[in-house]
Amino acid sequence: MDKAVIETIRLNLYYGDFLALEEVNIRIHRHRITAIIGPSGCGKSTLLRCFNRMNDLVESTKVEGQILIEGEDILSDKMDLISLRKKVGMVFQRPNVFNLSIYDNLRFGLRIHRMMSEKKKIDEAVQNALEHVGLWDELKDRLKKNARTLSLEQQQRLCIARVIILKPDIVLLDEPCSTLDPVSTLKIEELLRILKRDYTIVIVTHNMQQAARVSDETAFMHLGKLIEFAGTAEIFSNPKEKLTENYISGRFG
Ligand SMILES: Nc1ncnc2c1ncn2[C@@H]1O[C@H](COP(=O)(O)OP(=O)(O)OP(=O)(O)O)[C@@H](O)[C@H]1O
Ligand SMILES: [Mg+2]
Repeated sequence: MDKAVIETIRLNLYYGDFLALEEVNIRIHRHRITAIIGPSGCGKSTLLRCFNRMNDLVESTKVEGQILIEGEDILSDKMDLISLRKKVGMVFQRPNVFNLSIYDNLRFGLRIHRMMSEKKKIDEAVQNALEHVGLWDELKDRLKKNARTLSLEQQQRLCIARVIILKPDIVLLDEPCSTLDPVSTLKIEELLRILKRDYTIVIVTHNMQQAARVSDETAFMHLGKLIEFAGTAEIFSNPKEKLTENYISGRFG
């Protein structure tokens, strides 16, 4: 059955008077990787930030329409934003590790969400999260080292671990590989393929090859509108819309 984990219904978002998202209807499915592509400024990051209400942090935004996560209306006044952002975690363009040890980077969220206090439990969760992102073997003997001493790729993996240690349902990533070299980029993509067994993943990317390689479904946006949304193979081999075809064949963007 086509059950959406994230669904938007006629979603509009304004920054002041500027309409940045217009009538967006999207249905994102469980345990898939959904890529959001489109030219710079088309609203990819804005749409992604809607899914955990990060746009609330930007002044003078106004949202209309509905956003449902697992059927729950997240725009409701009753929505608890802290638990929403735990359930819908986010990884940014630049790895934003804290100026703390590797271990404390991971413990940080557990504390905020009061998830566990017993050291043994925390140690287990830290190990588990690092194993999940493929960092445990290389880092297990230096968990006390400052996270900023890690390579960029390791830092980005750590950021992903910091999200998944909170046991989210959905992981949002906004151009997570844009500061990485091609080899590290492929490794992160490999990691995403593993993670989709356990999580629903939405990734914004400028890089069409990346979308084609890693995603199951692709959303193409242009000037705040969702132009086309379909299986990735279909979008890249047989787009229905002229705009999509022009974009993926590199005619603009
Ligand atoms: N805080 C803001 N205030 C006003 N306008 C904004 C704000 N953030 C984004 N915008 C505008 O909204 C539109 C969509 O921006 P957004 O950052 O979502 O695009 P994007 O597709 O992620 O672009 P890029 O590929 O460059 O990251 C752009 O026209 C942008 O200038
Ligand atoms: Mg963006």
